[in-house]
Amino acid sequence: MDSTFFMCKPDAVERGLVGEILSRLERRGLKLVRAELRQLDEATAKAHYAEHDGKPFFGELVSFITRSNVLVCEVAGPKDTWAVVRTAMGATDPAKAAPGTIRGDLAIEIGENLVHGSDSAEAAARELGLFFPEH
Ligand code: RTP
Ligand code: MG
Repeated sequence: MDSTFFMCKPDAVERGLVGEILSRLERRGLKLVRAELRQLDEATAKAHYAEHDGKPFFGELVSFITRSNVLVCEVAGPKDTWAVVRTAMGATDPAKAAPGTIRGDLAIEIGENLVHGSDSAEAAARELGLFFPEH
């Protein structure tokens, strides 16, 4: 099995969409290996989104992702799981995301786009290490 890192963001937990979102991944054939509700501290949020440090939306992104609980997950599939998950998520801007995707069916605003998924195999390894260091 090949694992990736996945997160239901604060808006997903607040809107009661965690079950719907995980159900989509499970129906696809992916497996939930680990999941935990936690409120991210600022340092973890900044480390997670370090690639965006300095961009105009960075401050808003950090305050959004730390505002309430997120569900951090390890998700596994047969291969290239990060890519399978990214396709299921849809485009970053939900207004442009295809119908049938999580963002395309359930969100509209770019700052409240419900989910995060690692964008490469390297990012998956890095993010799993950041959020589940004990494993
Ligand atoms: P994520 O990392 O959260 O899974 O999202 P992503 O890969 O699809 O998009 P990314 O480029 O990594 O951007 C991270 C998050 O920053 C917010 N964003 N806002 N206002 C803007 O132009 C803008 N661009 C990005 C989004 O909330 C995005 O999920
Ligand atoms: Mg990203």
